[in-house]
Amino acid sequence: MTTQVPKYVEPRTQKMNNVANHLEPWLQLEGKVVFVTGASAGLGREFCLDLARSGCRVVAGARRGDRLKSLCDEINTNSHLVRAMAIELDVTADGTTIEASVKKAWDAFGHIDALINNAGVRGGIKSSVDISEEEWENTLRTNLTGSWLVSKYVGRQMQASKKGGSIINISSISGLNRALMRGAIAYSSSKAAMDSMTFVVSNTYRTNFVYEICR
Ligand SMILES: NC(=O)c1ccc[n+]([C@@H]2O[C@H](COP(=O)([O-])OP(=O)(O)OC[C@H]3O[C@@H](n4cnc5c(N)ncnc54)[C@H](OP(=O)(O)O)[C@@H]3O)[C@@H](O)[C@H]2O)c1
Repeated sequence: MTTQVPKYVEPRTQKMNNVANHLEPWLQLEGKVVFVTGASAGLGREFCLDLARSGCRVVAGARRGDRLKSLCDEINTNSHLVRAMAIELDVTADGTTIEASVKKAWDAFGHIDALINNAGVRGGIKSSVDISEEEWENTLRTNLTGSWLVSKYVGRQMQASKKGGSIINISSISGLNRALMRGAIAYSSSKAAMDSMTFVVSNTYRTNFVYEICR
């Protein structure tokens, strides 16, 4: 049996239910520009489709350009305007390379209202004595350092524009000390550290940024 994937459709022009508008503000995001990392698959891809349906323009970032192109084509061919742009981005790259990718993302629509740090890897299920340094480094570099570096350069652009913005970090319940994901030592460590990073930054830049965490 084949799975039916719902197609992207243009932003909602009329309400489909009787819920008051102010109770569903996420359905009315016309004109907002959102940069989503890890947009080539999984949750990131779904975020892009949902945001576009809600009226946003999306900048889709990840390493696999072919997947990003097919996502943007799906959004744009069903839209009367260019609503999605693809930016190839490796969040494990050095700061200078990430800064250049962020500049391209910013220039795609002239600004960014919100960044969703979604790119992430789970890594294998290994005990602390079996996991290799390489796997540990890659998981921490992707999930933690990558999110920080993308935020750093998007944050600088947001500050310079004097408009502020929102930075949303996609964490995991495995970052909580009350949720145990056996064998996910690097993943859980990276998400717990991401939670701390979010807490510190949100209390430092409270006046300029909305800094959120999602699990
Ligand atoms: N799925 C869940 O149940 C769940 C639950 C809690 C939290 N989360 C979190 O949600 C996020 C997405 O999870 P998912 O399940 O949707 O993952 P997924 O399907 O494996 O997709 C991961 C995405 O991250 C991108 N990515 C990985 N490494 C990257 C890198 N070095 N540079 C740029 N992009 C990179 C991948 O794109 P490329 O390979 O093309 O670069 C892909 O688009 C992750 O942060 C994960 O920890 C997921």
